[in-house]
Amino acid sequence: MSSPQPRSRILGTGSYTPARVLHNTDLEKIVDTSDSWISERTGIRRRHIAAEGELTSDMAAAAGRSALDAAGLSAADLDMIIVGTISGDTPMPSCAVYVQQKLGAQEIPAFDISAACAGFVYGLTIADQFIANGVARHVLVIGVELLSRILNWKDRTTCVLFGDGAGAVVLGPASGDGRGIISTRIFSDGTLANSLVIPGGGTAEPLTPEGIEQSRNKVHMVGQDIFKVAVKNLSSASLIALETAGMAAGDLDWVVAHQANLRIISQVAARLSLPLERFVLNIEEYGNTSSASIPIALDEAVRDGRIEPGQNVLFCALGAGISWGASVIRM
Ligand code: ACO
Repeated sequence: MSSPQPRSRILGTGSYTPARVLHNTDLEKIVDTSDSWISERTGIRRRHIAAEGELTSDMAAAAGRSALDAAGLSAADLDMIIVGTISGDTPMPSCAVYVQQKLGAQEIPAFDISAACAGFVYGLTIADQFIANGVARHVLVIGVELLSRILNWKDRTTCVLFGDGAGAVVLGPASGDGRGIISTRIFSDGTLANSLVIPGGGTAEPLTPEGIEQSRNKVHMVGQDIFKVAVKNLSSASLIALETAGMAAGDLDWVVAHQANLRIISQVAARLSLPLERFVLNIEEYGNTSSASIPIALDEAVRDGRIEPGQNVLFCALGAGISWGASVIRM
């Protein structure tokens, strides 16, 4: 099978995670849970939590600067900033404009993508289009979440799962050597919108004191619904992206999957007939950082030399919406 020529490629990666670490044993003092329950059911042992006063856009800008440095570019070289997040600094304007301000970028389009854990794959897919049609040359794509401030810390079914952080890539035009985004596909299914939702605080349910009392402005999730569909859709999207790329799972050097639950990743690995060793895993350290999880794991694996230039890498992510997607990249 021959692969389509990539039109854009990753020029640099970066990430930022806050210094403060919350261990499972710390959570034992907050809710009725245990280190063994969390680690056995999810693979999570620790998560990083933003400092008081630290903002989503601070983390995003730090990851963005790091990706620009790695690409050998500056903010002045950017033509667009896309931020995947559902936990921006303010409901309006976008987190991306604060990032633009903090990076000192010029008057370029800067906007958010609301696709929860799939936000980074969505952003990558959109950036690839703008580069392919020649409208943009260098696009900064960031996945960032400050979930610790939108969790209900009395709800053990959600608060143990998530963490804060940011990851970023700079995309630029492919140079015709086969390296770059070979295929990228995104999907949504709104019939499952209520399985993972922040019900209050939007126009459907403006916040009231009672709503705040009932944590209507925090994350609510039907975990088992998401688990089943995650295994199914991550696998199917990965196979579609591979087929579009003219590849089979066996051609992959690495899979960087959304880090939501180690059991979900293991089941996806089985469905793709790939050993778990082929997956970049950091869920133990960061928990689920939603849209940030793929670019953080990617950046770590690029910097420590696991992922090398020329290798074939699959990204796959699924989150609230539900929205999901997968990309095949030659690094
Ligand atoms: N500590 C101890 N016990 C707990 C905890 C906890 N933190 N949370 C739930 N339990 C209990 C439940 O109350 C239940 O008790 P019961 O049997 O007495 O009723 C028992 O543990 C089993 O609960 P389940 O919900 O059946 O546990 P499951 O094995 O399904 O694991 C989990 C729950 C980890 C949430 C799993 O369903 C999951 O990972 N789902 C996917 C969630 C996800 O990935 N979400 C994010 C994707 S989208 C995004 O990232 C934005």
